[in-house]
This record gives sequence, structure tokens and C-alpha cells, in this order.
Amino acid sequence: MAAPYRLLFVCLGNICRSPSAENIMNHLVSQSGLSDQIQCDSAGTSGYHIGEKPDRRMTQAANAQGIEMKGRSRQLDSSDLEEFDLILAMDRSNYDGILALDRSGQNAHKVKMMCDFCQNHTDTEVPDPYYGGADGFKYVIDLLMDASQGLLDQIVAEEL
Ligand code: 4NP
Repeated sequence: MAAPYRLLFVCLGNICRSPSAENIMNHLVSQSGLSDQIQCDSAGTSGYHIGEKPDRRMTQAANAQGIEMKGRSRQLDSSDLEEFDLILAMDRSNYDGILALDRSGQNAHKVKMMCDFCQNHTDTEVPDPYYGGADGFKYVIDLLMDASQGLLDQIVAEEL
């Protein structure tokens, strides 16, 4: 059997946006019966929250849409750029932070913006909800549901 396709979702703290993306994608992958073929992980460009569970407000917003939130925060490492097949940045600053770790310069082609996969939203970045209210967390889930479905559709269509 072919090796699983490995996806890494990246934000700043790895407690709000990227763990949501990871868990939403796992949910969609599982519903599609593809859990053996597609693996998901997430990381933060910062080390501010290493070892912490996802933000409680983010978990509430995810749970409200039927998404369970698992995982602990970890910091992105340069080895991640070698090991993953596709790396999804939540915003432009995350994108720049990921590329800054591409020491070999060989892996830039693996790094894409998550919102490039949206089918129903026109946003170009997933907004950072950390300092805002509950609406911002709900919006992140809606946006990531859209982008994750678009991403899965492209992987299944073997366009990536
Ligand atoms: P995330 O959100 O990058 O989506 O996990 C944030 C989490 C923590 C902080 C900023 C954004 N912070 O400044 O601690």
C-alpha cells in the first residue's frame, strides 16, 4: 500500500486555528473512509503554548459543529518541512514563518495558504480569533469547514 499523504496545519500558537483545521480535516477524512490514506497533524510557528490543549473557546465552537478537539500544542520544526507532503498556513505571517525554516530551500512548493482551498468564502487568510469574541471562533470553524472540504476534494481528485 502507498504511504499515507501527510498534511500539516500551521498557525501561530497551535491552540486555535491549526488544531481546528487538523480535527476538522480528520473528521472529513474519517467520514470519507480515507483515514488510512491521509494523516493530519498541526503545529505553531511560536512556542508560546507548547504542551497546552486547544483553547477552550475554540473547542466550544468546534464541539458546537460536531467536531471533537484533540491534541497538544507543539512548535513547528525545520524537520517538518521534510516530513510532510503538504503544509497549510492559516495566514500570511504563518506562511512566512514556515518558509523561514526551509533551510534547504527545497520545500517551498509544499507550503500553501489554507484559504486557497475555500469554495464558498472569499477570505485569503484565516483570521486570528485569540483576542476577539465568540463570533470570531465560530467564523474560524465555518471557514475551516469550507477550506478543508475543498482541500479533501482536491486530494481525492489527485490534483495535489
Ligand atoms: P492560533 O491563535 O495561532 O490560532 O493558535 C493564537 C493563540 C495564541 C496567541 C495568538 C494567537 N498568543 O498571542 O498567545
